[in-house]
Amino acid sequence: MNDINQITHVESVRLSDDGTSVIIIDQTQLPNRMEYLTLSTAQDIWEAIYHLKVRGAPAIGICAGYGIYCLALQIKAGDYNGFLREFRKNKEYLDSSRPTAVNLSWALNRMEKVVAGNGDKEITEILKLLKEECLKIHQEDIEMCRAISEYGVSLLKDGDGVLTHCNAGPLATSRYGTGQGPLFLGKERGMNFRVYADETRPLLQGARLTAYELQKAGIDVTLICDNMASIVMKNGWIQACLVGCDRVAANGDTANKIGTSGVAVLAKYYGIPFYVLGPTSTVDMKCRSGDDIHIELRDPEEIKEKFYSEPVALKEVKCYNPSFDVTDHSLITAIVTEKGICYPPYTESLAKLF
Ligand code: MRU
Repeated sequence: MNDINQITHVESVRLSDDGTSVIIIDQTQLPNRMEYLTLSTAQDIWEAIYHLKVRGAPAIGICAGYGIYCLALQIKAGDYNGFLREFRKNKEYLDSSRPTAVNLSWALNRMEKVVAGNGDKEITEILKLLKEECLKIHQEDIEMCRAISEYGVSLLKDGDGVLTHCNAGPLATSRYGTGQGPLFLGKERGMNFRVYADETRPLLQGARLTAYELQKAGIDVTLICDNMASIVMKNGWIQACLVGCDRVAANGDTANKIGTSGVAVLAKYYGIPFYVLGPTSTVDMKCRSGDDIHIELRDPEEIKEKFYSEPVALKEVKCYNPSFDVTDHSLITAIVTEKGICYPPYTESLAKLF
């Protein structure tokens, strides 16, 4: 396998060989250590998602699908109703781990439908169908990422400078990724890009994961601090911005990692196209606008201490630590999905996808 294949074929989430637990790459340890974790209990899975050991909207969905299947194998219920009750308890618990990325509840709802729609079958038969469904969610993500990358690469030219924020590559998804998928696919086809990766404070997924993936794949990547996006744009080094998404509202407002909306505002100012890339499973037609999207607030420790040998702020200092922000649809040039490229007005172009 060449370098690029090694990166695009990394399996950040999978079912264990004996089919009873979920194996993930612990993304909090990268780029220094490639460590795998085996998740077998509801608490293991909840904590892995909450602490971003597995992260990125599609990877969270895949992990939740495999996770709830493994937990279903452990249910000891005398009848179907008892099984459904326990299944729903696990579902509610896993669903509470991260509220913003819709793929979590999307995958759990898909799994629940299998149980709810097969009340006439033996539990062993339902378990078989659940296994098929979670493998399907994973397989579909591979296909979606490939299609998104194909559409995305059609928006770029050889030699372009591209700015990315956070991580929406193979670790966050399956194979190529979404927000960074076109860069890997383009590279495979001999295209060369100059990529600027925002470090993405406070958890540094841009520095730890995106710069790692691109560098290992032999793509020209330059790591910058988040407050440097403006200068690289002003210098004329950026021809396009590519980002992933965690939830897209029906009007195109997009929740993605905190700092994304700032990049979009800058891109508008400098006249640079700003593209959001994600599967239709990330579009939530039930959210009318970004105002309906719940933004996860996280532990102040992520700002004050994590990744520092000594705290960088007084213990008693107040922190505001939202994990995501919403980019207004008016700042988005196009939303790239596996079904095609949507342009404004998004209320019309997104609705056509469903
Ligand atoms: O908090 P994270 O690391 O899960 O946030 C990730 C992002 O914001 C990604 O850009 C998004 O999930 C898309 S991943 C294909």
